[in-house]
Order: sequence, then structure tokens, then C-alpha cells
Amino acid sequence: MLFENLRQALERVQQQFGDRAHECGELPKGATVLPATQSAMFDERMVDGPNEFRIGRPAYLDMHFGYGLHTCFGQYVNRVQIPGILKPLLKKGNVIRAGQLEYQGPFPSSLRVKAGN
Ligand code: HEM
Repeated sequence: MLFENLRQALERVQQQFGDRAHECGELPKGATVLPATQSAMFDERMVDGPNEFRIGRPAYLDMHFGYGLHTCFGQYVNRVQIPGILKPLLKKGNVIRAGQLEYQGPFPSSLRVKAGN
């Protein structure tokens, strides 16, 4: 799951427009462009209370497995496997954090928890 965007900005050198591009208000050829990126699921303009944990949000807001051409290949396996892993843990009850969320690069890799009594 990706909580932080992979890159804060993408550097692109404008190559599509010709020398006359500036006449139409477009970026001139060779201009360096730095589009900033953010995680869409944390966009307050589209998601009500994005930092709150809420079950039952509409499915169209759910982009955990990506979107479009590169949607996660493993999503159908995950939809079965992840509940299979988490249900037994949650059934123990009293699940609490027992450490800090650890990352490998931008990806959360582990979170130690305690469960039960
Ligand atoms: C919780 C588990 C997982 C999550 C949240 C997840 C999420 C994602 C996301 C967001 C993407 C899109 C990346 C992009 O747009 O660049 C992606 C791509 C992909 N995922 Fe997953 N994934 C998970 C597990 C898996 C598993 C178990 C497999 C394999 C069995 C898998 C195989 C792939 C592949 C092959 C792609 C690339 C698809 C493409 O580029 O066309 N993923 N995943």
C-alpha cells in the first residue's frame, strides 16, 4: 500500500511542441517542467476526511490496486488472501500497535502489533 507518493515531482523536458509553441501560450520546446504529484486517495477535494479510517467508503474512491493500464496484476489474489491473513488476527481482539510502521523506500513494509489478552 502506498501512503506516500513515489516521487515528489517528475522532471520532464518538453519535447512535443515546436519552436512556435510560445505563440500559442504553450511551453517552448526544451523547457523543463516539474509537475508535483500527491497521493490521490488523500485528496480532500475528492475524499471526505481522507485521514480518517472509515469502512464503507464508495468503491470508486478505492485506488489501492492502482488504476487504468497498470492496475495491480495481483488484486484478485489479494482480495482473497489479505482478509484470510487479517481475519484471524482481528478475531483475537484488542489489536494494538507494538512498534512504529517501517518502510522500505516509500512502501510500508511492517508494523508490529499485539493482539489478544
Ligand atoms: C497488498 C498487496 C498489493 C497492493 C496494495 C498492490 C498494489 C499495486 C498497485 C497500486 C499497482 C499499480 C502500480 C502502478 O500504477 O505503477 C500494482 C501493480 C502491479 N501489481 Fe500489485 N499490489 C499488491 C500485491 C501484488 C501481488 C501479490 C502481485 C502478484 C501476484 C502483484 C502484482 C502486480 C503487478 C504485476 C503489477 C504491474 C501491473 C502492470 O504494470 O501492468 N501485486 N500493484
